[in-house]
Amino acid sequence: MTKFLLSVHVLAAILAIGPVTVAAGAFPASTRRALAAPGGEREVAVLRGLHRTCRVYAAVGIAVPVFGLATANSLGVLGDAWLITSIALTALAAAVLVLLVLPRQAALLDDVVASRRPRWPPSRLAMHTGLFNLLWTTVTVLMVVRPGSTTGA
Ligand code: HEM
Repeated sequence: MTKFLLSVHVLAAILAIGPVTVAAGAFPASTRRALAAPGGEREVAVLRGLHRTCRVYAAVGIAVPVFGLATANSLGVLGDAWLITSIALTALAAAVLVLLVLPRQAALLDDVVASRRPRWPPSRLAMHTGLFNLLWTTVTVLMVVRPGSTTGA
């Protein structure tokens, strides 16, 4: 059972976090291109597609902590320091994505559609996206290294 839960957890991490990373990574540069070509329908369509990918896969990403917690429960490691740290960092990554990255993408998309001056420079969004990437990358390393764990290699 643990192996099944862990497999779903890792698959969810790959399938959900991967697309968010790629789409969110492309969003700031695409915003700059769209701002440089006001009224460009193709540019707006690209931005809409990237934002939608981020929203949809962020929702799919809920499976990562759900199956992560189920795996941890099944392994009996819920009280381990490396896991508690990972849970906190995962919560922080989710907060950065839901409270900063997604709303700022939506706001920039609105500005592009309305041909307004952007309310934030796309570089600020790139910074938040980078913070999100740094957080989930740190969690992945913690998941593999599991510092202090005596339950496996
Ligand atoms: C609430 C958050 C999370 C919990 C409770 C959790 C829990 C776990 C547990 C218990 C394991 C098994 C470790 C072992 O074999 O002893 C694991 C493995 C793993 N987790 Fe998570 N996880 C969480 C978030 C994440 C996130 C955000 C990612 C990546 C985006 C991730 C990626 C992985 C990977 C790649 C493994 C396999 C590591 C290996 O077997 O070497 N996890 N996780």
